[in-house]
Amino acid sequence: MSGVGAAPIGVFDSGVGGLTVLRAIHEQLPGESTVYLGDTARVPYGPKSPDTIRRYANEAAEFLLDRGVKVLVIACNTATAHASRRLSDRLDIPVIGVVRPGASEAVRVTRNGRIGVIGTRGTIDSGTYERAIRRVLPEAKVRSQACPLFVALAEEGWVSGDVAELTARTYLEGLLREGVDTLVLGCTHYPLLRGMLEDVAGPAITLVDSAEATARHTANVLDREGLRDERAAVSRQYFVTDDAERFEQLAEGFLGARVDGIEVVELGG
Ligand code: DGL
Repeated sequence: MSGVGAAPIGVFDSGVGGLTVLRAIHEQLPGESTVYLGDTARVPYGPKSPDTIRRYANEAAEFLLDRGVKVLVIACNTATAHASRRLSDRLDIPVIGVVRPGASEAVRVTRNGRIGVIGTRGTIDSGTYERAIRRVLPEAKVRSQACPLFVALAEEGWVSGDVAELTARTYLEGLLREGVDTLVLGCTHYPLLRGMLEDVAGPAITLVDSAEATARHTANVLDREGLRDERAAVSRQYFVTDDAERFEQLAEGFLGARVDGIEVVELGG
């Protein structure tokens, strides 16, 4: 097979977090080549203004388009919240964000219609998850909580233990009191904290990881658009905007595999 189907899937995030989405894409679409861009020079996106995040997302998208990607996966909730609509209006290739797949999955699994969402301040303040959930389940009761320290905990590797647990209990207290039965991990760093969050949330709460739902959605979009590729020899390319060494150290925990051949690039030029 040749032509557009053979082109890679482009995936970008502010840093390493999007590797949790890339991991799910590699698992569900093993015959597809991928190009990953982590904007490590400008991470975190979470506390930045919507305008700044949109500019960063545009530059990341241009970089991946130059590499000939056939579909763009925004593997960052904050960038999805602020930039996905404009990117899909502007680009000729399908643009996939992480919010809608996560929201649909939450609606699918909730039993009592009370859904908690955790994410960066940028994602939570945008109200994007509430809107996406209510679009599918108008009567849903959505309770959101920004958990900015979780990104630092995941990057430090402090994914369990006293500090992580106390932080989680403090952030989740309000959500738990409101009787949510579903908790959306609305940040691509959070799947690393999943085990600890499950303990803190308790067995009555189902955690939703938008990485898997996004990979499934990507597979559906490729099928729908006739862009699916199945080949034995695939390529996996990695680009960052700063400090390839630190990215390489962190990457294994997020991706579940070693990453080599990381190239440092400049965006926006
Ligand atoms: N990857 C980002 C997200 O999913 C979190 C990290 C950041 O703040 O840049 O929202």
